[in-house]
Amino acid sequence: MLQEIQQPIVHDLERYRACFRSALVCDNPLLSAALRHVTQREGKQMRPTLVMLCALAAGAVTDASLHAAVGLELLHTASLLHDDVLDESDTRRGQPSVNALWGNKAAVLVGDFLTSKALQEVTATDHPRVIARTGWLGQQLADGELEQMAVMAEPDFRPDRYYSVIGKKTASLFSTAALAGALLGGANDELAGRLERVGHAIGLCFQLRDDLLDFDSSQLTGKPKFIDLREGKVTLPLIYALNTTGDVAMTKLALHARCGEASDAECRELTSFAIDHGGVAHAESEMQRLRDEACAELGTLANDDAARALQRYFDFVIQRDL
Ligand code: FPP
Ligand code: MG
Repeated sequence: MLQEIQQPIVHDLERYRACFRSALVCDNPLLSAALRHVTQREGKQMRPTLVMLCALAAGAVTDASLHAAVGLELLHTASLLHDDVLDESDTRRGQPSVNALWGNKAAVLVGDFLTSKALQEVTATDHPRVIARTGWLGQQLADGELEQMAVMAEPDFRPDRYYSVIGKKTASLFSTAALAGALLGGANDELAGRLERVGHAIGLCFQLRDDLLDFDSSQLTGKPKFIDLREGKVTLPLIYALNTTGDVAMTKLALHARCGEASDAECRELTSFAIDHGGVAHAESEMQRLRDEACAELGTLANDDAARALQRYFDFVIQRDL
């Protein structure tokens, strides 16, 4: 499916990969080793793909769109390095994290290097709105993480707080990728706004799906992970179940989990409770709602190939299983 989505921009993605690699050349041995480590697996290149599909939807992919794609992927990589320090996470994409291999100090500094490099790349677009938007994005990412910390100390479970956090920490990057692509592809304000909204909806769904993977039934029967709950993160399926049932015992248990102290058995109990009381079904239907709204915006795009690819991109985000 990803191949089909990326088909209209397959040559642009090759150029993107070359630009990305050359942005990472440096002569500091530790930095070089850490950068090689974080970029050894190419990944799905979801954000660069979105930049380029939106550029295509607006007109054409140019060198400036490639710089934006590289810049946003670098900023995304930086944010994951910092996130693993904050979450004290030892793994990322099935590999040891940079903090696990080189320690927290090196991970923060490599993240700083990548952030600065990202700003250089985005500056090369020479587009003031894209540059300003990237500054806004860095603020949103940090703000979202801080809000997530604040939410973890709250006595209740509010869906609006959940959406606010994922809007800042995840959807901001997708909406920026879509907006940057659109503007650099030559979109007028109306089209740029439309693609930005689609990007935002894709980003919300990306995080909703990511959070749903923690509730995957195969993980209930197989080896359970419950990574979010163990980190104290209570996500939409459980928030929904707690609010619709008003179950006092489960609310107490969820508050205990929010302190990051839940055992495997407690995580399993909360997860089953969320599934049994419609939390997973609710999150799935939220994704469908967001998708339907976005598809209405995409329906009137002039470039059919780009519109179709963006719709498939949305479906891929909703259906992905890793
Ligand atoms: C992953 O979420 C983390 C993010 C989406 C954003 C993290 C952002 C920061 C640490 C701020 C960085 C700011 C700058 C300017 C670089 P997750 O922990 O829910 O998911 P995971 O399973 O991927 O860890
Ligand atoms: Mg994390």
